[in-house]
Amino acid sequence: MAKTNKQATWGGRFKEGPDALMLRIGESVSFDQRLARFDVQGSQAQAAMLAHVGLISPAECEAICAGLDAIMAKIEAGAFEWDPALEDVHMNIEQALTAEVPAAAKLHTARSRNDQVATDMRLWFKFACAEVDTSLQAVIAALVDLADQTREVIIPGYTHLQRAQPVSMAHHLLAYVEMFDRDRSAIAAVKAQANVCPLGSGAIAGTTLPIDREFVARELGFVDEAGQPQVTQNSMDAVSDRDSFIAFAAACATIGVHLSRMSEDFILWSSAEFGFVKLPDAFTTGSSLMPQKKNPDAFELIRGKSARLSGNLQMLLTMVKGLPLTYNRDLQEDKPPVFDSFDQVTLMLDAVAACLPGVEAVPARCAAAVADPLLLATDVVDYLVNKNVPFREAHHVVGELVALSEQLEVPLDQLPFEEAGKVHAALAEDWTQVFDLQRAIAAREQPGMPGPQQVAARIAHWRAQ
Ligand code: ARG
Repeated sequence: MAKTNKQATWGGRFKEGPDALMLRIGESVSFDQRLARFDVQGSQAQAAMLAHVGLISPAECEAICAGLDAIMAKIEAGAFEWDPALEDVHMNIEQALTAEVPAAAKLHTARSRNDQVATDMRLWFKFACAEVDTSLQAVIAALVDLADQTREVIIPGYTHLQRAQPVSMAHHLLAYVEMFDRDRSAIAAVKAQANVCPLGSGAIAGTTLPIDREFVARELGFVDEAGQPQVTQNSMDAVSDRDSFIAFAAACATIGVHLSRMSEDFILWSSAEFGFVKLPDAFTTGSSLMPQKKNPDAFELIRGKSARLSGNLQMLLTMVKGLPLTYNRDLQEDKPPVFDSFDQVTLMLDAVAACLPGVEAVPARCAAAVADPLLLATDVVDYLVNKNVPFREAHHVVGELVALSEQLEVPLDQLPFEEAGKVHAALAEDWTQVFDLQRAIAAREQPGMPGPQQVAARIAHWRAQ
């Protein structure tokens, strides 16, 4: 079959058809067939526009649109035969249509696959961004629920993975909600960026034919908030711009980073060493050899998959960077990474949203960890600052107290006052009151802090969204 020329769309100047290996390296229908419904939508809008300006008759438009509906129904039923020899989704659909509807030979008037694929992908990005946003919202809702249940569970907060200061588990979880909310903004920005119609840019330099770009943009929903059509303003940019691909992959990679860091926290927290949480059976697995094991596989896989998401971004940046204007066939390779980022990121988000309701805090283990008085060493500094000791001096004094507790092998909060009082005159006998954990947390009620009212307000804020 290799040497017979099936390329009705561009075969005119060729004496023989492409080599079998040319077909293999050239086909994209194996992965771009998922664009079918956007391609059909784009072609129906194109036909409507051609009829609107009189380049085809209303009857021809009707026949084309009905034929495309029939093809779409066949595709959805899994009965459409995709032929890799026809390269891509566009030519597969166009040739199937032309076989049924003679008027379809006019459909590609004033259009190139270059502006066609750019249009299909912009429609796809608008769809994909809406899906990712829905998945992000589910994760946010699940995190807010878990935060609500863990408002009173105090745990050590860490810097350098060393115990730092106490926080509620809720405050820790809500940090991720802030991240995923920023991700929602990034995804919304990609959606807005994609919402401009490139159709009419042709292969590179538009067309001499009297098309109506705003008509087709309106048909396809490329409109602003006021309903005004939005069309690209430079035909050369429009057919070679892949910024939305990069921005989408970047947003997915960033979501991946956030999911991965969160996964790492849950993996650590569920270890015997921490024991702060129990993970649900449904999202963990056992060992084929060690009967006691309960492994946090879902979170590990999410951590692993996040590497794929950043790889996809890197691939796109590298692919585009050296390309001269305008379209180059290299750009066909732009789709697998964005489709993969979409598939993986939605799977990752959906798995997390399903897993989180089964995560249980283990209050006793959290309480044991947070009983470490060193977590409140900084609060002792604040105690001294309140007694007018300059901060640097107070920091040094508490450092000496910590050293003393290590030397005497007595916990910081149990240092006898005869010893502690010698370190600084401002240290009164009441200094150990600092080690009241509830008081320490309640004292942090400025915006963004882990105080219970702040956390409650933040939970209410997210619930209201
Ligand atoms: N399948 C192609 C792609 O995804 C469509 C554009 C083909 N354009 C061309 N000049 N060969 O890039």
